[in-house]
Amino acid sequence: MKAESNNQRGFWGSRLGFILAASGSAIGLGNVWKFPYIVGENGGGAFVLIYLVCIFIIGTPIMLAEFTLGRKTHLNPVGAFNSLKPDSVYTGIGYMGVLAGFLILSFYGVVGGWTFAYVVKSMTGSVLSFASPKEAGVFFGNFISSTGEALFYHALFMGVCISIVLRGIHGGIERACDILMPTLVLFLLLLMVRSLTLDGAMEGVTFYLSPDFSKINANTILIALGQAFFSLSLGMGCMITYGSYLSEKENLTSSTVYVVIFDTLIALLVGMVIFPAVFAMGLEPAEGPSLVFSVLPVVFTSMPMGHLVSVIFFTLLAIAAITSGISLLEVVVAYFIDQQGWPRKKAVIIVGLVIFAFGVPSGLSFGVMAEWKLMGMTFFDHVDNIASNYLLPLGGMLTALFVGWIWGTKNAHLEIEKNENQFGFPWAQGWEFLIRYITPVAVGIVFLAKVFP
Ligand code: TRP
Repeated sequence: MKAESNNQRGFWGSRLGFILAASGSAIGLGNVWKFPYIVGENGGGAFVLIYLVCIFIIGTPIMLAEFTLGRKTHLNPVGAFNSLKPDSVYTGIGYMGVLAGFLILSFYGVVGGWTFAYVVKSMTGSVLSFASPKEAGVFFGNFISSTGEALFYHALFMGVCISIVLRGIHGGIERACDILMPTLVLFLLLLMVRSLTLDGAMEGVTFYLSPDFSKINANTILIALGQAFFSLSLGMGCMITYGSYLSEKENLTSSTVYVVIFDTLIALLVGMVIFPAVFAMGLEPAEGPSLVFSVLPVVFTSMPMGHLVSVIFFTLLAIAAITSGISLLEVVVAYFIDQQGWPRKKAVIIVGLVIFAFGVPSGLSFGVMAEWKLMGMTFFDHVDNIASNYLLPLGGMLTALFVGWIWGTKNAHLEIEKNENQFGFPWAQGWEFLIRYITPVAVGIVFLAKVFP
């Protein structure tokens, strides 16, 4: 085992750089693509409320636990669990995480490719000539089922992730996020101004913020919790890995709070862009996964300044995807650097190419492999399902149990309190209670409900 002395690992250059990078990981397609359509399908404001509860009671404690494991060990997920309880079954939590990172990036890269394609297509204006979401949907369907074009953009997305991660933590990931995250915020604010100043925008705001509790059931809560995990990049050691590049000086609790708030704020603000615009243009939000790719182009087509707005929107979507894609790649790369002693360059190139190759059948799941189904689901659906619905919640629950009971909250406190005194009573007690009892039980119930419906 190569451990802390490995100079291939790297470190964050500043606290702000770390927070931007971790937020970049969290803020992704989950916020801009998934969140709005899930809200649209599940009753607007009521769902948002449940989502917020999941974020604060379950997501936040786990994120702090992950950062703590990372900084304590300065290792990837496998090394982190293994170094705290050597050669025990708990190392399996780390392996599950690395596997989940591999699987998630394999299909995330496909959707990342779509966002790249739509940046280009919005620049040329080819996504801006639709009279109805149906027409736009046909155009989208043709694109994602095209073997060559879709694969080209998929490869391009993976290539960009690889070239950033090749440059390491400080010079690659941090530098990219230092530029990309402020750009993302600026774009989002511009879009919000445009959207909220449209005639009829308020109807969308009302839909978004007024809760319809009749739509809430057990399944809604499952969806909200799953979304909270995915959006905060939890349950697979992504935040363990990012935390492992932190120095002892940094304040883990406040970093956690910043990242959680930033991620949640962006998701909420994206809703403030999309719903007002959709309603102002007289369309329906409940379109499912194609909301962003087939409803929005129609919205942009009829909106004043729509061409510019569409370029800004899809660029924002692509930025969100890149800063998350690199965090997924880094988890698997860190495993090969720390545990196998590979140099970064070798790890990034091999891991990146293998993940791309494994993602190809996911990319083709909308075209030539669409009929290639097992139990009614395509390759893409299976990979997404295994990683998002099984590995992430299981990983999150086991991480909470490990920190709460095996490694112990006492040890965790010692690590959190290094060089900071802001984690005193009552926060320490509150966190301990959540991570030991509430988080594992809540995730466990949700998980069982999913596996045995
Ligand atoms: N959080 C990102 C999003 O919202 C995706 C992501 C990056 C992720 N790293 C992760 C999801 C780790 C789960 C686990 O799109």
